[in-house]
Amino acid sequence: MQTAPSSARAVLTRLADRARSMNLRTEFSGDPRRANKFSFEAVDIAFDFSKHLIDEEILGALVALADESNLRGRTEEMFSGQKINITENRAVLHTALRAPKNAEIFVDGENVVPGVHQVLDQMSAFANRVRSGEWRGHTGKAIKNVVNIGIGGSDLGPVMAYEALRFFSRRDMTFRFVSNIDATDFAEATLDLNPEETIFIVSSKTFTTLETLTNAHSAREWLIEALQDESAVSKHFVAVSTNAEEVAKFGIDTANMFGFWDWVGGRYSMESAIGLSTMLAIGPENFREMLAGFHEMDEHFRTAPWRQNIPALMGLLGVWYSQFLGAETCAVLPYEQFLKRFPAYLQQLTMESNGKRVHLDGTVVDHQTGAIYWGEPGTNGQHSFYQLLHQGTKLIPCDFIAFAKPLHPLGQHHDYLIANVIAQSEALAFGKTAEEVRAEGVKENLIPHRTFPGNRPSSTFLLEQLTPRNLGKLVAMYEHSVFTQGVIWNIDSFDQWGVELGKVLAKRIIGELESGAAPAHDASTNALIQKYRVWKQQP
Ligand code: F6P
Repeated sequence: MQTAPSSARAVLTRLADRARSMNLRTEFSGDPRRANKFSFEAVDIAFDFSKHLIDEEILGALVALADESNLRGRTEEMFSGQKINITENRAVLHTALRAPKNAEIFVDGENVVPGVHQVLDQMSAFANRVRSGEWRGHTGKAIKNVVNIGIGGSDLGPVMAYEALRFFSRRDMTFRFVSNIDATDFAEATLDLNPEETIFIVSSKTFTTLETLTNAHSAREWLIEALQDESAVSKHFVAVSTNAEEVAKFGIDTANMFGFWDWVGGRYSMESAIGLSTMLAIGPENFREMLAGFHEMDEHFRTAPWRQNIPALMGLLGVWYSQFLGAETCAVLPYEQFLKRFPAYLQQLTMESNGKRVHLDGTVVDHQTGAIYWGEPGTNGQHSFYQLLHQGTKLIPCDFIAFAKPLHPLGQHHDYLIANVIAQSEALAFGKTAEEVRAEGVKENLIPHRTFPGNRPSSTFLLEQLTPRNLGKLVAMYEHSVFTQGVIWNIDSFDQWGVELGKVLAKRIIGELESGAAPAHDASTNALIQKYRVWKQQP
């Protein structure tokens, strides 16, 4: 039996029918306290989940499901360093990366917290040297450009955090991020950079990733060709990795390496040394503020009762829609331009974590698991895909994220922005009936087209302002909601075997493209390889 027999599951299966025909207008008018009941403020985030397809009984059953799934116990296992990533036999301790100096967290008998703070100090010292101009390039010039080379968790977190916190960043420095093996990514990122003023951060947990190593080698050649001296590498390359041996093999002095540990998953690593580019951009103090925000959310998740626990409720709502109501996606809609890369970051966090089809014991899951996360910043999405949200046929729960104070106050912009985010959740929930449309004098044949069915669920998260601390809270909030879902589904949210097969096959095909030997695959794959070879040779 893959999961413990659950009475909450049976109750929720029964309640799903009620939710499918739930009318949010009636729910709100029938209960004047509904908005109050299903919203609260914690860690300075106002969380409104009243526009969801839930009532007291459904919420009670979801909370019971959390208890039946031993969410509290599993949370403690994670926070205390037990090896809950069972397929890789690893602890899952991103929470240790933001633990205060005096905390004690043990992995294999060793307190990992001093090591975390040692690396943070090393990063701070380096960041201060670069930011002050003390760190000089090979020809004696100060560093003005920072290029992070990494992919997946070694790119998405850094690039998201840089964009999110750009307001707090050094505007006289340039930050670029190279991830794709497509040479265009590297070529365009370095096109206008002076090698004498450029430092590369090669970020790779394993230091074996094809994309990152290929880009790093191209960067090395680019630098050496410009400076005509191999020894320039030591002033223009640093590494972030768990693999000192491979870093040394690449030619980076391990004195210029910033370490982390196998208990930090790639998609949970933006606040480890993988965040070095973030620290260079915003400075050590702001970086520590971000860590404090992460920690605040960690403590909230660890201690608050489920009914008052933002990440746990988000996770439970995710389970509700995926498992019980058959929703396949979740839209993340930040009304903050600086969060434009937040949905892309969340895609790896959520989908690499919970895109799983077997339980911890290997038995097959018999319901939907992790949703497809996607989104764009508001208001742009409103003029694009929101049509489908309002009048399409799909059930798509939405997360609206907004901030009360703009970082760039300008005329009426912010009031207009916030009016829009509030209006969207209202329109989705309550729609517009045929009678209302008719009362506006709309012709009968157009009434079905102009009716909005409503009952489309959303959460709204309102924060005061986008700051390093609040970004830390938001990321940790999603991390723990992903964890909550993984616990309830009894899947391993911390491995990613699904990315392996493609990597292995690509290696084999690379060999075939280079050798020119007859490809030995299925007919379709063989034909694609042959066609590529022919067109590549054409003058
Ligand atoms: O694509 C799989 C993956 O292992 C991700 O989980 C990880 O974030 C990414 O590759 C990069 O890995 P590394 O940091 O080891 O280069």
